[in-house]
Amino acid sequence: KPVIFSGMQPSSDSLQLGNFIGALSQWTKMQEDYDAIFCVVNMHAITVPQDPQGLVERTRRTAAQYIAAGIDPAKSTLFIQSHVPAHAQLAWVLNTITGFGEASRMTQFKDKSQKNGTDAASVGLFTYPVLMAADILLYQAETVPVGEDQRQHVELTRDLANRFNSRFGDTFVVPEAQIPKTVAKIYDLQNPTAKMSKSAETEAGLIKVLDPANVTKKKIMRAVTDDGTEIRFDRAEKPGVSNLLTILSVLGERSVASLETEFTGKGYGHLKQAVAEVVEETLAPVRARTEELMADPAELDRLLARGAERANDIANRTLDLVYERVGLMR
Ligand code: TYM
Repeated sequence: KPVIFSGMQPSSDSLQLGNFIGALSQWTKMQEDYDAIFCVVNMHAITVPQDPQGLVERTRRTAAQYIAAGIDPAKSTLFIQSHVPAHAQLAWVLNTITGFGEASRMTQFKDKSQKNGTDAASVGLFTYPVLMAADILLYQAETVPVGEDQRQHVELTRDLANRFNSRFGDTFVVPEAQIPKTVAKIYDLQNPTAKMSKSAETEAGLIKVLDPANVTKKKIMRAVTDDGTEIRFDRAEKPGVSNLLTILSVLGERSVASLETEFTGKGYGHLKQAVAEVVEETLAPVRARTEELMADPAELDRLLARGAERANDIANRTLDLVYERVGLMR
């Protein structure tokens, strides 16, 4: 089976709806047909300050949400990044073939470092995409299912793989991003031109997978809509309504066109009500299952240890080859 690899940062106590739609729901479908490897990228999370106790808790919680959303640890390999030392080891080698200018052009670094100034940004944040390349290349993944915001990082991964292969001989599979076309991006409910993000400035527009039903419903009913009354999909003129239609369409498994017809002549309140319902239907079981898993951390840790064992096997094979190619004495 072809290999897929993907990961998420444990940077909040709950995943958000964008993670769920843009990534997790694709992953669960793909695990049937692929050799699927999913990672909680805790080493990426420490590129910005983290509370150590909190990070441990959020790492477990993120893994629990993967499983609760349908990742089956018996079918897929599920593990924690820091349990596989080869990630840091390969990242170092890849750092040495990454151009400084090339890394400087990564838009996510520019965005994140602009918020607090480049002096506050760590070198770890700067070289974050190189660690991500190492994640993917260690497993010889062909396909990387991610949201639109990760496209540039996967492009860099391809460039590094090609460069390494041509300098040192064929070593890496050159991976490709798989980005769902229609739902590549879920937007903030209060600011529907910005992507929904765990690190948003306010949480009013953020749907968290683990929030209680009433909190989520309130946020949806207060979502920013647009001038006029018409319910139609139009990203430029009606970003708020379009975002709600997208969410309803994906989670309700209905086409946007049929929703537009259904909501002809109805008000924004009706649309929000329908969105709130489908979101609750989707998230309620995920929430319940996550709590169950979190109630037995020893069992969860056992599952993760098993995943790490398999991941280490694969990753070390690639790393050995890389060290040999580069001439790092064993
Ligand atoms: P992260 O943790 O920010 O997000 C995890 C996944 O969720 C997707 N996503 C979204 N999709 C649609 N709409 C949104 N509003 C939205 N917000 C987030 C992201 O595109 C991503 O797929 N650098 C990565 C983690 C990573 C990784 C990897 C991914 C590290 N190594 C190797 C793939 C392969 C990140 O920060 O994702």
